[in-house]
Amino acid sequence: MGTTITIKNLTKRFGDVVAVNNVSLAIEAGTFLTLLGPSGCGKTTLLRCVAGLEDPDEGEIYIGDRLVFSRARGISVPAGQRDIGLVFQNYALWPHMTVYKNMSFALEIRKLPKAEIDKRVKESLAEVKMLGYENRYPREMSGGQQQRIALARMLAYRPKVFLMDEPLSNLDARLRMDMRAELKRLHYVAGATTIYVTHDQVEALTMSSLIAVMKDGVLQQVDTPDRVYRCPSNLFVADFIGNPKVNLLEGVVDGQGCVDLGEFKVAMDTQGVEGKVVLAIRPEDIAVYTEPTPGTVKFTVYSVLPSGADSTIVARTGEREVTIRVPGISPIKMDDSVWLKFDPQVINLYDGATGNLVAVRKV
Ligand SMILES: Nc1ncnc2c1ncn2[C@@H]1O[C@H](COP(=O)(O)OP(=O)(O)O)[C@@H](O)[C@H]1O
Ligand SMILES: [Mg+2]
Repeated sequence: MGTTITIKNLTKRFGDVVAVNNVSLAIEAGTFLTLLGPSGCGKTTLLRCVAGLEDPDEGEIYIGDRLVFSRARGISVPAGQRDIGLVFQNYALWPHMTVYKNMSFALEIRKLPKAEIDKRVKESLAEVKMLGYENRYPREMSGGQQQRIALARMLAYRPKVFLMDEPLSNLDARLRMDMRAELKRLHYVAGATTIYVTHDQVEALTMSSLIAVMKDGVLQQVDTPDRVYRCPSNLFVADFIGNPKVNLLEGVVDGQGCVDLGEFKVAMDTQGVEGKVVLAIRPEDIAVYTEPTPGTVKFTVYSVLPSGADSTIVARTGEREVTIRVPGISPIKMDDSVWLKFDPQVINLYDGATGNLVAVRKV
């Protein structure tokens, strides 16, 4: 079973770049935590610090009760002694070793009995549905199969902690989808505490029990996927999560219970909020009517993008453009008039200056 991971005030610099900036995280046993953020935000560096592949400049890391890194106390437990399993984007299998050897190698070094090694290799191959591939070489398998072997190798090792850095990024879209389901299942069965790195917000939303969003080395929000999606703590997170993107509407609090967006006003509770604000409303939260309806604003449809299960509608009024998502194939056509309802119950309000969430949606 898994173990806790505690990261305290961790900082890692490369010259002038602060790759990880004062990060603290308390991860409960069995959690699937995803580090999410754009390229260069410090995800890999943070993961490598936990793995013991980088020495941070400041801070502490505990795996369970064990202090594996402390700058102040001069402790740095080598990677091989941290009881972790690693999987990277490039499968990192030994090209000159068979699948069996790739998997048994680390167990032999640990001097496990032959029978135990054999049992673990076979069980782990079965878990990733690769039993029968023992004698293949990496070059004799597809990318997806090699990545399964890399996962099986980690499983056979039976670490308390799984660390994975973009393990699905090299796979094609279809396979990535299948592997998400399988990885989630593997985590569920093994129960190992997992830190998973991705820049793909869909991957983070679908697989994680907790998402830690990073920007420029700084943690922005650590929350459940549902909370990160519905109540992003700042505009960066709101904008990063969701496809199609959230609608961010800049306006001004008018002092009469409305936010003035220029083209129209939205009546909402703005108590304690002044000046410039940004309203954030998800595309699926804007209600669309095809005839004039009280409490709506008239827009003209600029484009309609059906994608089977749902359709994305882009509509404009004046300079203002919004994106709406409706289920199924929409009968709405380009240049149609539509009437849109911006329900204050589903709007998050952000401070225009700081970008921080100041009033959260009601439902
Ligand atoms: N070994 C290194 N030497 C110098 N700079 C590095 C090194 N590794 C990472 N960086 C820098 O640290 C920052 C974070 O990188 P990284 O952790 O790889 O981000 P991510 O995995 O989120 O894409 C980037 O600015 C990157 O250029
Ligand atoms: Mg990376």
